[in-house]
Amino acid sequence: MVIIMEYVYIDGEKIAIDTNRDSLGWGINGDSYCAQMGDRLLSVKIYHSEEEPLENLYYYPDEKTLSKFIELAPFVKPILLSQFLVTDEEGHYIGCARDYIEPSYPNTTEALFAIPREKALQYFYAIEEKIPVFDKNGILLFDWHNGNAMLGTIQQGPEQLYVFDDTCYSMYASRQKNNYIELRRLVESFVDDFLLQNNSDGYIHDIIMQKIYAQYRPLSFLENVSKQQDTLGDGILQYVKKLNNRYNE
Ligand SMILES: Nc1ncnc2c1ncn2[C@@H]1O[C@H](COP(=O)(O)OP(=O)(O)OP(=O)(O)O)[C@@H](O)[C@H]1O
Ligand SMILES: [Mg+2]
Repeated sequence: MVIIMEYVYIDGEKIAIDTNRDSLGWGINGDSYCAQMGDRLLSVKIYHSEEEPLENLYYYPDEKTLSKFIELAPFVKPILLSQFLVTDEEGHYIGCARDYIEPSYPNTTEALFAIPREKALQYFYAIEEKIPVFDKNGILLFDWHNGNAMLGTIQQGPEQLYVFDDTCYSMYASRQKNNYIELRRLVESFVDDFLLQNNSDGYIHDIIMQKIYAQYRPLSFLENVSKQQDTLGDGILQYVKKLNNRYNE
C-alpha cells in the first residue's frame, strides 16, 4: 500500500497524518482522520478543497463561526464542538479538530437500546440539557442523526453519548429558531435504525415515527414507551408487538 502522509498544523504544532491508516471516514464536507497531538488523540476533519467548488454541495463553518464553536466547546459536552482550527503550512484554514471518541461498542444503536433504560435516558438528558446554550448563542444545530453520534469515552473519561459532527451548524441572527428539532431528529434516527435492525414492518415503522413527531418533548417517546421495561429496546419491541396485534391481525 502506498503511504500518503499529510501534514497539518494545530496551534503551531505540526501533526502527521497517514491518510490510509488514520482515516475515520470520507464524508460530503470533508475527510476525518485520527491524529496524535502530544498525549492527546484528536479527530481531525480536513474539508474538501475549494479549488473545485461543488456549487454549495458541501459546507463548512467560516473561521469566525469556528472560533465561536471553539469558545463554547468546554461548556456543551457531550455535544462535541470543534476545539481547534486546523491550517496548512502557510496558515490557511483547512479544517477543524476535536477530541477523538473511543467507541465503547461496535454499534451505538444496538448498545443504546440494550443498556439499562435509566442509563440510556441519562445519556439523552445530558444532550438535552445543553441545547439552551446554542439558543442563547444564536447557533443553529444541524445534521443530528445516529451516524453523527457515538457511545464512547474521551481520554479514559466517563462514557457518554456524544454528538460529534458540527460541520453544518451555523450562526443565525433571529432568535426564533428551535434547536430541539435536532434532538427530535436524533431520537427519530436512532429509533429508525433500531427498527431497521429488528426488521420492523414498514407500516408499523411509520406509525412509530408519527408518534415521535407528535410529542412536544423529543424524549417523551423514549421515556413512555419503555416505562415498564428494563431497556429502551424492550420498550420499543413490546410496542411494535402491540401495534402488530392491532393492525396486522
Ligand atoms: N471525534 C470523533 N471521534 C471518533 N470518531 C469520529 C470522530 N469524529 C468522526 N469520527 C468518525 O469518523 C466518521 C466520519 O466523521 P464525520 O461525521 O466528521 O464526517 P462525515 O459525516 O462522514 O462527513 P460529512 O459530515 O462531511 O459528510 C464518523 O462516522 C465517525 O465514525
Ligand atoms: Mg458526519
